[in-house]
Amino acid sequence: MTHRTDIQQDSLIKEAGVMDSLQQTDSTEEAWIEVIHKMDSVYADLVHSQVELELKNSALEEAQLFINSVLSAMTDTLIVCDTEGVILQVNSALETLTGKAKEDYLQHSLHEVFAEDSQAMLDLFPEKMRHESLIDCEMNVICSDGTTSPLSMNCSSRYDASGVLTGMVLIGRPLGELRHAYKKLNYAHTELQRTQQQLIHSEKMASLGRLIAGVAHELNNPISFIFGNMHALERYSSRINQYLNAVDAHVDPPELKKLHTKLKIGRIQDDMGSLIEGSLEGAERVSNIIQDLRNYSGGQKEEYSFFELNNVIKKAVSWALKTDKNKAEIQYKFADNIKINSCKGQIHQILVNLIQNARDAMENEAHPRLILSTEISDEFVAIHVIDQGVGISEKDAKTIFDPFFTSKPVGQGTGLGLYISYGLAHDLKGDLTFKNNPKGGAEFILSLPVDSKS
Ligand SMILES: Nc1ncnc2c1ncn2[C@@H]1O[C@H](COP(=O)(O)OP(=O)(O)OP(=O)(O)O)[C@@H](O)[C@H]1O
Ligand SMILES: [Mg+2]
Repeated sequence: MTHRTDIQQDSLIKEAGVMDSLQQTDSTEEAWIEVIHKMDSVYADLVHSQVELELKNSALEEAQLFINSVLSAMTDTLIVCDTEGVILQVNSALETLTGKAKEDYLQHSLHEVFAEDSQAMLDLFPEKMRHESLIDCEMNVICSDGTTSPLSMNCSSRYDASGVLTGMVLIGRPLGELRHAYKKLNYAHTELQRTQQQLIHSEKMASLGRLIAGVAHELNNPISFIFGNMHALERYSSRINQYLNAVDAHVDPPELKKLHTKLKIGRIQDDMGSLIEGSLEGAERVSNIIQDLRNYSGGQKEEYSFFELNNVIKKAVSWALKTDKNKAEIQYKFADNIKINSCKGQIHQILVNLIQNARDAMENEAHPRLILSTEISDEFVAIHVIDQGVGISEKDAKTIFDPFFTSKPVGQGTGLGLYISYGLAHDLKGDLTFKNNPKGGAEFILSLPVDSKS
């Protein structure tokens, strides 16, 4: 067994104390280190949440700015309220319309916004808000000067994130503005209709002018020879009367013979037949022209009839080119004897316009040439009007049949010719098409059923 002295004992005790304190010092340090670590991590967390908070804050500010810009850009009025009808938000369109400030609305009741006659509708809102949205009801808002302004209102319910009803959103379109815009639109529409009528009228007058020039030219010939014949007959009748008076007075036969020779009664007898025949023919031509005119005017519904198509084409050419100064060379390439059942006058009208257009397109050609051909296949006939003019550009091709499309200078074309012709062709159950020819110039094709009536 080992016995220690007191000194030994003491030093042992001291040693142990030092050890203890040494151990104590170690654990305190560790604790401190741990505290510092903890502080570091808490600080880092704090910084992190600070950054996150700042990010959220700026996102919130941005969202707020976005909402504000949308609200102030709206031209419709906006009112947001809670379930009790207390106003939480309005936009500047409402302020502008009524002349009141935002503060006059916020935390006030919806009832203060609307006029007396809209209160009954307003009373229905809380109930409606729970079940449906209100669409297009008309309500009057009160303005700062005491007047009211009509709004077409759309109201819908507003819910929070958990789906609980929190209030209503009322969007109103100022009807005053709408009514004003409608009035302006209506006025513009009436103006447009009036201008259109004027243009149609001036086109009618222009084609009437062309028609009158043609008619005058056409009537001039027969009328002038009827006139000449009548003058001759007038002179002859006075001579015949003179001779008959002598016969009635029982003048001696030799004297009568002399008078017969002097008054050239024999020549009168020879001429009389051809004078009367010529006058009758002239009158018949006048009557035919008037019949043609009736067909051309197309005002009243034209009767269907069987007729020879090639003759109608020739007649249309002579009408359309009557005033043609630089005479175009005309080539006919007709299929034999095409008889169709259709409306002669309407076909005449279409062809006159196509031929006039072809002529206009060749205005600058030194030797204008127009080809008119007909062909018959199955139950259709096709009439081709072919020119050697400028042709139709790709751009114009899209609008050529539109009313009022014209490339001609003001006063020389109203652009109704093809529009009307297309309509007439379809009325006759046919079609009007066109193409450019590879060698230049345009070709219009009018196709018609052999029997438009069936
Ligand atoms: N054969 C053609 N060749 C080239 N362009 C043509 C031809 N036919 C018609 N066009 C074009 O189509 C346009 C419309 O023709 P449309 O007959 O409808 O009216 P317009 O001849 O101008 O006037 P109008 O009302 O007097 O007939 C013409 O202005 C012209 O530009
Ligand atoms: Mg024309």
